[in-house]
Amino acid sequence: MSPLLKDQEIIIDVEELVYGGEGRACYNEQDVLIHRGVPGDRLRVRITGFKDTAARADIIEVITPSDIRQVPICPVFLEGCGGCQWLHMDYEAQLYWKGRMIARIIQDYETLSHVQVHQVMGMDDPFYYRNKMVVRMRGPKEALRIGFQDNKRWVLNVYNKESGQCYIQHPLNNQLGRALAVSLTQERRPLKSATIRVSDEEEVSLDLEKKWRTDIASDLEGIGRQTPYVHYTIHDRRFRVTSPSFFQANTRQTGVLVETVLDLLPKKPAKTAIDVYCGVGLFTLFLTDRFESVYGIEESKTALEDARHNAETLHISNVQFIYDKAENALPEIMQAVERAEVILVDPPRSGCNPDVLHAISQCRPGILVYISCNASTLARDLDILDQNGMKTTDIRPVDMFPHTYHVECVARCVPG
Ligand SMILES: C[S@@+](CC[C@H](N)C(=O)[O-])C[C@H]1O[C@@H](n2cnc3c(N)ncnc32)[C@H](O)[C@@H]1O
Repeated sequence: MSPLLKDQEIIIDVEELVYGGEGRACYNEQDVLIHRGVPGDRLRVRITGFKDTAARADIIEVITPSDIRQVPICPVFLEGCGGCQWLHMDYEAQLYWKGRMIARIIQDYETLSHVQVHQVMGMDDPFYYRNKMVVRMRGPKEALRIGFQDNKRWVLNVYNKESGQCYIQHPLNNQLGRALAVSLTQERRPLKSATIRVSDEEEVSLDLEKKWRTDIASDLEGIGRQTPYVHYTIHDRRFRVTSPSFFQANTRQTGVLVETVLDLLPKKPAKTAIDVYCGVGLFTLFLTDRFESVYGIEESKTALEDARHNAETLHISNVQFIYDKAENALPEIMQAVERAEVILVDPPRSGCNPDVLHAISQCRPGILVYISCNASTLARDLDILDQNGMKTTDIRPVDMFPHTYHVECVARCVPG
């Protein structure tokens, strides 16, 4: 069989979605990943290149559309914007395919082939949910483009137009994006990007290049209330989040994530729990209801200060926050406490440091809850844990990022 060539045009049927968002089809036993391909589509595509073992392709013509394909509501998505990837797919179908995607990644590992992947918990209203926006600016003031990148890193213009908006950004972020466009078309300061975080309390925190901060902040004055930190209320608890600290980007769905985690924990009060990679104390300050002592470990200074502040304002005293790298702090805590009934880990996308996995396997907590926004590193780490005696039973995915291929997973592991 002749191999596929660059620029070759072929007709192909899309079978599934892969992590990264593309549709996967098979041609002469070769995988072809198609930008914006939808399972069930019959497409005419052009091969654009090759990466790893797969060919990459762009759609030339949708010959037969899948019945889950829909007309995207966003005109900038139609121009190629990569701020989200799946706006051309029915939301219920997105949830189904996210579940399939996770199962495929997890069950690729022999040790995890038995792991049950539950239905993805979606949002009732999957729009305007992002509390944090990284917006990019390119071009001179007469032709300013301010918005998000496409898959070739070209910045598309979302906000330099009347009623320009992103359908996954919080309405206040959209207002600020348009105001930023007005400000930069009046005076084009050489700004390449800005990070904006907003809350439902109408607070606005701007992370801008220092040189232009004062000028731009004054141009945006009056849209929300500018402050160095914002607050998010999750169930009955209010969390302060200072500009560089991490917080979940979807405030509404964070309540579901917290409930999902708490649901897995022992109902009876117990002695010790450890929240590794704890951020501003989101999970930590719910664990304190059920455990005599709780430890939170975090390497970011601002996040740790926020966590301590949050504990204080919530009048929670049975918690200790440790400012250190997880790989250093966890083994030390394990030496100091007799046993931890529960360990929670919620690492960055790269997953857990091997020393953290080693410490967990040594300590064998009654339950380990692993929260992850990257199914690939999650699967890698669960496999290592399995080989060291911590068995994964099931995974509960929560859709924190509608219309994108991203999904949060909550895995439960027990000593096996
Ligand atoms: C995905 S966030 C989770 C935070 C928190 N659980 C939440 O949901 O808000 C990961 C956190 O781990 C922290 N972090 C990254 N590497 C770390 C390390 N080696 N040791 C400790 N914390 C780390 C980051 O600063 C960030 O706050």
